[in-house]
Amino acid sequence: MYIKTQKLFYLVFLSLVSNAIHGTSLDSVDSLILGCGTESEAKDADGRKWEPDAKFITGGNSASVRAQFQDPSLLSETPYMTARIFTSKATYKLSVKPDQRYFLRLHFYPAVYGSNNAEEAFFNVMANDLTLMKNFSASLTCKALTQSYIIREYSLVPPTSDSLIVTFEPVVGFAFVNGIELIPMAADMFDTVTMVGFSDQAIDAKSSNMQTMYRLNVGGQFISPNNDSGLTRTWYDDLPYMFGAQSGVTNQANANSKIDYQNVPKYVAPVDVYSTARSMGNSKAINQNYNLTWVFQQIDPNYMYLVRLHFCDFYNTKPNQIVFNIYINNQTAQREADVIAWSGGKGVPTYKDYVVYVVDGKGDEELWLAMNPAKETQPEFYDALLNGIEIFKLDMKKSLAGPNPQPSDMFIKNEQQQKSFQTETTSKAHVIGGAAGGAAAVGIMAALCIAVYNRKKKEPGTDSQTSSWLPLYGNSHTSGTRSTISGKSNASTHLSSAAQGRCRRFSFAEMKHATKNFDESNVIGVGGFGKVYKGIVDGGMKVAIKRSNPSSEQGVNEFQTEIEMLSELRHKHLVSLIGFCEEDREMCLVYDYMARGTLREHLYKSNKPHLTWKRRLEICIGAAKGLHYLHTGAKWTIIHRDVKTTNILLDEQWDAKVSDFGLSKTGPDMSNGHVSTVVKGSFGYLDPEYFKRQQLTEKSDVYSFGVVLFEVLCARPALNPSLPKEQVSLADWALHCQKKGVLEDIIDPYLKGKINPESMKKFADTAEKCLSEHGMDRPTLNDILWNLEFALQLQDNMEGSSHSSRRSESNHDESGSRNQNAASHYSNQSHGSASEVHGDTEEMNTEEIFSQIVNPKGR
Ligand SMILES: *[C@@H]1O[C@H](CO)[C@@H](O)[C@H](O)[C@H]1NC(C)=O
Ligand SMILES: *[C@@H]1O[C@H](CO)[C@@H](O)[C@H](O)[C@H]1NC(C)=O
Ligand SMILES: *[C@@H]1O[C@H](CO)[C@@H](O)[C@H](O)[C@H]1NC(C)=O
Ligand SMILES: *[C@@H]1O[C@H](CO)[C@@H](O)[C@H](O)[C@H]1NC(C)=O
Ligand SMILES: *[C@@H]1O[C@H](CO)[C@@H](O)[C@H](O)[C@H]1NC(C)=O
Ligand SMILES: *[C@@H]1O[C@H](CO)[C@@H](O)[C@H](O)[C@H]1NC(C)=O
Repeated sequence: MYIKTQKLFYLVFLSLVSNAIHGTSLDSVDSLILGCGTESEAKDADGRKWEPDAKFITGGNSASVRAQFQDPSLLSETPYMTARIFTSKATYKLSVKPDQRYFLRLHFYPAVYGSNNAEEAFFNVMANDLTLMKNFSASLTCKALTQSYIIREYSLVPPTSDSLIVTFEPVVGFAFVNGIELIPMAADMFDTVTMVGFSDQAIDAKSSNMQTMYRLNVGGQFISPNNDSGLTRTWYDDLPYMFGAQSGVTNQANANSKIDYQNVPKYVAPVDVYSTARSMGNSKAINQNYNLTWVFQQIDPNYMYLVRLHFCDFYNTKPNQIVFNIYINNQTAQREADVIAWSGGKGVPTYKDYVVYVVDGKGDEELWLAMNPAKETQPEFYDALLNGIEIFKLDMKKSLAGPNPQPSDMFIKNEQQQKSFQTETTSKAHVIGGAAGGAAAVGIMAALCIAVYNRKKKEPGTDSQTSSWLPLYGNSHTSGTRSTISGKSNASTHLSSAAQGRCRRFSFAEMKHATKNFDESNVIGVGGFGKVYKGIVDGGMKVAIKRSNPSSEQGVNEFQTEIEMLSELRHKHLVSLIGFCEEDREMCLVYDYMARGTLREHLYKSNKPHLTWKRRLEICIGAAKGLHYLHTGAKWTIIHRDVKTTNILLDEQWDAKVSDFGLSKTGPDMSNGHVSTVVKGSFGYLDPEYFKRQQLTEKSDVYSFGVVLFEVLCARPALNPSLPKEQVSLADWALHCQKKGVLEDIIDPYLKGKINPESMKKFADTAEKCLSEHGMDRPTLNDILWNLEFALQLQDNMEGSSHSSRRSESNHDESGSRNQNAASHYSNQSHGSASEVHGDTEEMNTEEIFSQIVNPKGR
């Protein structure tokens, strides 16, 4: 009964909307897109035009300024590199029409603009008499999200006059804005909505102003503003918001099943949203015992939230095939949802709105969405289904403002540390950063300049193969000033006591002795952190000593990360940390010595003997095991972030060991499957998806590993600027050749004729999959391992030798990982054995250390 009336009313409403919409042109005719502080029209990365804002400003003191530094995650200069700043209350007057709602989007890039540092800006923003932001700090907000810029989107009710006055008012410091978009949409985009838990309570969403909190293409991919249906919205992938181990399965409508909008206006959501879905999976037994659950954080309490769920069933045709219940914040929002019954047929989209009130608990509020099969209706399948989610905050008492997010304790500690240290924000760092940012905007060619720039910058006296530990970026500029090393005493101020307990502490005198006073002849490598020396400690033990360069742009944090990470991890295929030294202004890390150096120097640009195909496969398998352990074997998922051939080291026995954890991050945690972060890594190996969305998952490592695989096969660098343009990037070139079936032409000439074609095919197919554009489509390291093992098997077969004992790993591993046997170590129950693999004595104390989101797996 309830559903029926809902539906009837719904149809009426929809036809109203479609009428409204045909009368209103939604193309860019009425849109206003302002690049604040610009003097002339400019295009962004999506090709959208941003016009100057000056003529819309009606009062107050304002100035046009330019950011000193372009974060690499900014895809284009427009609109972020320029800003309009206001030192007193000022307004924009924008003309509007009374018969439509408007999206108002505000873009903020909290950078340093000349003498104006956005960290010092706290301001209010109003749209007519509606408060959008109060005492807003773009800088604090970005830091809490570990993003370099933010976009706030509001949906405003149809105006009562012909102008919209947007007011910026400084509270402390100044106010600023980088971009303003005003996009018309249908007046009837929203209607009356029932409140969850109060079936008699209807909320008039039609006359509510809203702030967009989340917009997700469930079970699908990122949709850029250009690919949205005229409203230039951005839709994100929902996976990061899935809660729990069971995230169901994703489905995609096949090419010939058409999405038929019928009564739903096309602008409600694009085809890409309705043609992908997430459902629970095939198992009736499993499905009846779990909830498909999403969790959303950063929800301000004391507001109502409108949750819009988009549905489209492109498999089933009849009602009662899939029926499910929907819960929001643990309350039943919808009993017995039946998508086909609602929409009227297969492939027909529909959507439902629900409103919840989020009460003020304490701390960060969350919004939970869960679904489970409605067993009571005895549906044909025990399943649930969802295609899209939008969450909007509704205005209360003419306000949508929330407090600035609380930075985490860890973040505060980090800040204090940096402040108490010397704060040497070098302009050099900005030059590098700026150049890197440019690369983000214009792509590979600019990346080459960076490579060149870095090469020039390199210290003299280091040879070219060992020089590229260099990650291209220094510390995130958003975390403020770069710190160099402080340390007035020998007590480590930076390390957790747990890590200090786990590692041996060396004195600086011992370090000097070990390296013959850091003699240049002992240098075996150079990284962003400083030089790496060969050394001898304890009267005979060979070690590698990484000494921090006091003017290092990476400095303390990466030193710290590396110690904390490595002291926790013990694995045959990870380089082991023996100890560290921290005294006065000196910091050193002491590792096992890897007699054979980096993988890269055995592949090209050296006079070392060529590696056989078999050895290459074994090295790749070793490295994959190390990475697999990082991703799944330790208590936390660890994302390496800088996988490349110079970070894969080889010991005397040719065992591969993954090294250089300075950029590693833990994550994703249960409720937030990605780490959102400022992009770091090395060009040539960078996951394009990570670059675009600043969301880091272990699939970013998989991408980089794919590049490594091709590098091993083709024996050429990931980026080679001296080649013709289309060949510069190995990832692009190898994929191109692979797709054309001419990969043989570019493999290491030494391998020709010595490689089993089947083995090579398996290997190349695996590498290709690793380079899939979307993280979702890339294999896990577990899959990669099986494929590489298989490729090795095929090669073995050709060479005719029996290597059955090859990987039995009888040579025990002293480093403590016990499950080295291939089958058991990386079987698909990878999460279970964590503590066992991990070793016994460690008390994980990582939470205090890593600078970002850290949550234990499997709480
Ligand atoms: C503005 O926000 C900052 C940081 O959240 C806070 O310290 C300050 O007290 C706030 N000021 C006002 C006037 O609310
Ligand atoms: C839009 O989507 C199509 C395929 O769905 C894709 O080929 C195209 O690159 C997308 N465009 C943008 C700007 O993302
Ligand atoms: C919903 O229930 C789960 C599990 O009982 C709990 O962890 C979570 O905090 C609840 N969410 C809300 C918003 O009450
Ligand atoms: C699913 O979520 C609802 C609402 O929070 C809860 O009542 C129910 O027990 C959950 N079911 C399972 C199997 O966890
Ligand atoms: C610092 O070094 C001195 C002398 O080397 C030693 O006596 C002292 O115990 C050390 N302090 C700490 C906290 O390790
Ligand atoms: C591992 O995965 C395979 C297929 O993906 C499945 O058949 C097998 O049951 C799984 N094993 C375990 C232990 O989950």
